[in-house]
Amino acid sequence: MLRRMEAERALRPEISSSIDRAALIAWYRRNRERSSALFDLLIDEGAYYSHPIPLRHPVVFYEGHVPAFSFNTLVKTALGAASIEPELEALFARGIDPPTEQSPAPDPEPNRERWPSRAVVQQFARAADARVIDALTHGDIDRPGHPLLDRAEAVFVILEHEAMHQETLHYMLHRLPWDQKRRPPGYRPRIEGAAPRSTWIEIAPGRATLGVDRRSARFAWDNECPHFSEHVRAFAMERHNVTNAAFMEFIDAGGYRERRFWHPDDWNWVQREGIRHPLFWERDAGGWSWRGMFEPIALPPAWPVYVSHAEAQAYARWRGARLATEAEFQRAAYGTPEGDERPFPWGDAPPDARHGVLDFTSWDPAPAGSHPEGRSAWGVEDLVGNGWEWTSTPFGPFPGFRAMAAYPEYSVDFFDGDHFVMKGGSPATARELLRPTFRNWFRARYPYAYATFRCVKDLA
Ligand code: AVJ
Ligand code: FE
Repeated sequence: MLRRMEAERALRPEISSSIDRAALIAWYRRNRERSSALFDLLIDEGAYYSHPIPLRHPVVFYEGHVPAFSFNTLVKTALGAASIEPELEALFARGIDPPTEQSPAPDPEPNRERWPSRAVVQQFARAADARVIDALTHGDIDRPGHPLLDRAEAVFVILEHEAMHQETLHYMLHRLPWDQKRRPPGYRPRIEGAAPRSTWIEIAPGRATLGVDRRSARFAWDNECPHFSEHVRAFAMERHNVTNAAFMEFIDAGGYRERRFWHPDDWNWVQREGIRHPLFWERDAGGWSWRGMFEPIALPPAWPVYVSHAEAQAYARWRGARLATEAEFQRAAYGTPEGDERPFPWGDAPPDARHGVLDFTSWDPAPAGSHPEGRSAWGVEDLVGNGWEWTSTPFGPFPGFRAMAAYPEYSVDFFDGDHFVMKGGSPATARELLRPTFRNWFRARYPYAYATFRCVKDLA
């Protein structure tokens, strides 16, 4: 039956499949290996059942969630195939941050009773993987006009979903104590260099493209669609991200103690939680250090500072500046003085290690400005890689937005005015996600992400 359908497609090129099954299977396997390598960093069960970020589930959840989501979305929902184990499929179905801010992280003990043993999770994951691979190999996964399988949409949903969770896992494992993680052999942070001075680059007025038409992209999430363009007025953008050294000046000037720099909700958070510095910073007898994934690092002055939107916004106000809007980011990153737009800040070449710190090539950021080949046409550095960039744009639907059938809650649940768009990408962002229209988002007071910023100013 399947053979015959494939033969028919070959004879009728207008409905012939444009998908490359081998490439999709290779991507799926590469994803699975990278996810396992992350769980293998954990030293023991204590770490496995721990709950490093109170807003999210314990670590154990994610080892089940990723394969369960892939199986549920592609095999069960899109292809209509039978369950493996309905209870586990339901338990691991959904893994976004729960809505309430709760403190402090509960200890791992109760989680051992609430969640299955690691052996059960891994056995389920293997069964789900086998069924997904089978679907990718033989299933009718590319069906024109089908709500979930048109142009193999559900396949891209599961592949990109896993890539995003790998980044989330990085943030999460980052918070675990160092003695609960195995340090990879050869790990060495790049801390050399003094912070570059802040300079302003003028971006000429012009149009910026936001979004993409579903038909013209191989795949896009619902929040990236449809395509439209916006006029962007002249503005100046900092050439570099705000570095740890630059942010230190804000702290030294008492920035965390002055209400006038902060949005009222952010100020309440600073007061309530007693926030005095970025979450990634720690103060000890020897001065400031950066809480690295595997060890403390004397605060690298030239690294981009990783902060919440609340802190980025307060810093910008202190400087008499502001954060870029999403459209301004698009123009600075992808626009050119000649008026055209390109797929990457540096041009057309697919992202690699020359262009920035991205695609899991490093556990840490690199000094700001260390990838001149990744500069935008205007000369702005590090717009893609080395840390997501907060924008001042609340995460919301583009005009004409339609929720995608393969994952209807993906974006809609976060159109609440308290989440802000982040653009660019971090050291832990897969290269497949680094397209100009990809939008990331977190709450204003989410301090865990590899997220930085730079300031912009209006030009008269
Ligand atoms: C797009 C990264 C904000 O992790 O909350 C994963 C991605 N959504 N599973 C998140 C996501 C559902 C999402 N972010
Ligand atoms: Fe998820």
